Amino acid sequence: MRIKVKIKRCDPTGRGGCEPYLQAYDVDVKEGMTILETLMWIKENLDGTLSFRRSCRSAICGSCALVVNGTPKLACKTQILREYEGAREVVLSPLSNFRVIKDLVVDLSPLWDKIGRIEPWLQPGSEPPEGGWIITKDEVERIDRESRCILCGICNSGCNSQEVDPEFIGPSAAAKVYRFVGDVREDGKRRRLERVSGPHGIWDCSRCVMCNEYCPKRVEPMTSIEKLRVEAIREGLVDNAGARHVEALVDSVNRVGRLDEAVYTFRSLGFLRSIGMIPLGIRLELHGKMPLPHIFPAIEGIEEVRELIRAVEEEE
Ligand code: FES
Repeated sequence: MRIKVKIKRCDPTGRGGCEPYLQAYDVDVKEGMTILETLMWIKENLDGTLSFRRSCRSAICGSCALVVNGTPKLACKTQILREYEGAREVVLSPLSNFRVIKDLVVDLSPLWDKIGRIEPWLQPGSEPPEGGWIITKDEVERIDRESRCILCGICNSGCNSQEVDPEFIGPSAAAKVYRFVGDVREDGKRRRLERVSGPHGIWDCSRCVMCNEYCPKRVEPMTSIEKLRVEAIREGLVDNAGARHVEALVDSVNRVGRLDEAVYTFRSLGFLRSIGMIPLGIRLELHGKMPLPHIFPAIEGIEEVRELIRAVEEEE
């Protein structure tokens, strides 16, 4: 079957610098053919100037990550006909949230810098006991998902928080932090949690779930960030807006069975920063999102809500 494959290209050596443009190629594709095989065929037969990365061709090395019809994927794990059938076209672009070097090749050095900064190695407090560490199945399973990360950058490409703040730790580095925080042999757990609890850290995740959605290895980085938040609160690292936000939410639901936006804001941000939120408060008011009066009575059945919260806290 002959289809048109459009590739978003940019050639820093050409005229106009790295100004992106779409180039279309007619390609004969067959059932089972992957996006990576298609790219290799185009390079060999139609256009030797096309640039993309690949190595293992088995969804192991993470090199071939790109955006297919708007969704970041591994080229070697994605069949081209499946993509074509859904959209009636195939458009390939470089990963978002990274600087393009050429065509589908992006500069991943910000990702490597973040991974380097979290010290991605085990830091046990002592030498292994005689005969080595004995790790139970449950203890391995606790960090099994995070251990699967191949650092392809797909989660970073889909991350809304990273798009807004390039300094945000990002889903892959955060998942890697949990890989060590959750390891029973690790001794630097509190220090690691302190580092990620500050600005650009775990509390800046907007929980858009895109990283969980896109990860080709089902690492579910957003879930790792949630686990880091829980661990940070357990360690008493609550002097930040994110942790105060969580505590205020639980307190509000426990008190009246619903979210008390006004109190919630003051508890999360503190008095001075809350003053700056007054214009937003007025807009919420005008759109009926914060109706008067602001003193909410407890909802009917509040005891049941409180019982649920108590049960969860006891289980913790
Ligand atoms: S080429 Fe290695 S993951 Fe695709």
